[in-house]
Amino acid sequence: MRVISEVEEWRSFTDAQRAAGRRVGLVPTMGALHAGHSSLFEAAKNRGDVVIATSFVNPRQFEDHDDLARYPHTPENDRSVAEAHGVDCLVEPTLSAMWPAYPDPTPTTVSVRGLSDVFEGVARPGHFDGVASVVAKLLIVTGPCRVYFGEKDFQQLAVIRQMVHDLSFGVEVVGCAIVRDADGLALSSRNVRLSEDARRRALALSRAIARVAQAPATASEHRHDLRATLESADADVVYAEVVDPVTFTPSSDTDSGDARALVAALVDGVRLIDNGPVLLKGEQ
Ligand code: PAF
Repeated sequence: MRVISEVEEWRSFTDAQRAAGRRVGLVPTMGALHAGHSSLFEAAKNRGDVVIATSFVNPRQFEDHDDLARYPHTPENDRSVAEAHGVDCLVEPTLSAMWPAYPDPTPTTVSVRGLSDVFEGVARPGHFDGVASVVAKLLIVTGPCRVYFGEKDFQQLAVIRQMVHDLSFGVEVVGCAIVRDADGLALSSRNVRLSEDARRRALALSRAIARVAQAPATASEHRHDLRATLESADADVVYAEVVDPVTFTPSSDTDSGDARALVAALVDGVRLIDNGPVLLKGEQ
C-alpha cells in the first residue's frame, strides 16, 4: 500500500491510475478506522476500483474545539486496517496542504443551504459547510469515478449527494449500509467514550430504529415510538424524526411510502445518532 502526504504526489498517483484505464474509488475518512470503514474499502474493492482512502481530521467541521482535541488518533492502526482491507493508496494530507490559511479562516467555503441547516446542522452550526468544503477538495484532487460513504451519517450523505449534483462533480456517490456491533450499536469512532452503563443505554437508539422498521405506520406514530424507546433508556432526546430521505422535510401523516427515521440523543453526555428506513401508511 502506498502512503502519500503531498497533494501533488497524490494528484499524480490518481492521474496515472486513470491514464492506465483504471477506475478510482475514493473513501474519505478522518482516521480512527473501524469495521464501518473497512466495509467501505471492501465495497470499493468489490466494484473493482483502485481504492484511495484519505485520512484527515478536518478542523473545519468541528465547531467545538474540545471535540476536535478529543478526536481519536490511531495512525499506525489505521495503516494496518487500510492495508488489510485492500486500500491501494492511503493519503494522509497535512493540515497546511488541505487548508493553507489555517488557523485563519479559509476564504473559500462550499455550502449546501437548507439540508445543512436542519437536524445535525442545528446543534453543529457550520459543520456541514466544513464537510462539504473538505469533500469538494478531496474529490477535486483525487478525481474518482466513485466515492463511498456510510449511511450512519445519513444527513452528511444527503448533503454530499446534493453538492455533487449541483456542482456536476461527475462522480457516483455510493452509500453503504450501517455496520453494527453484535448488540446493534452503530459503529462510530465516538463509541469509545461510552462507559459500560452508557453503552448499554445507548442501545436504545438502534432498538428504536429497528422497532419502527417492523411495520408501516403514520409519521406521528413512528415519531412517538422512536421517542418512547429512547426515553425508556433515559436517553436525552435531541430529535426523533421521520423525514423525506432526499430533502429531509419532516413527513406528514398523509404521506405514504419510503421515509427515513432519524434519532439523536445524549447518553451520559455522549452525543449519538442513528437512522434507518421506515414505511409510511398515510391517513386518507
Ligand atoms: O464522515 C467522516 O468521517 C467525515 O465527515 C468526512 C466525510 C471524512 C469528511 O471529513
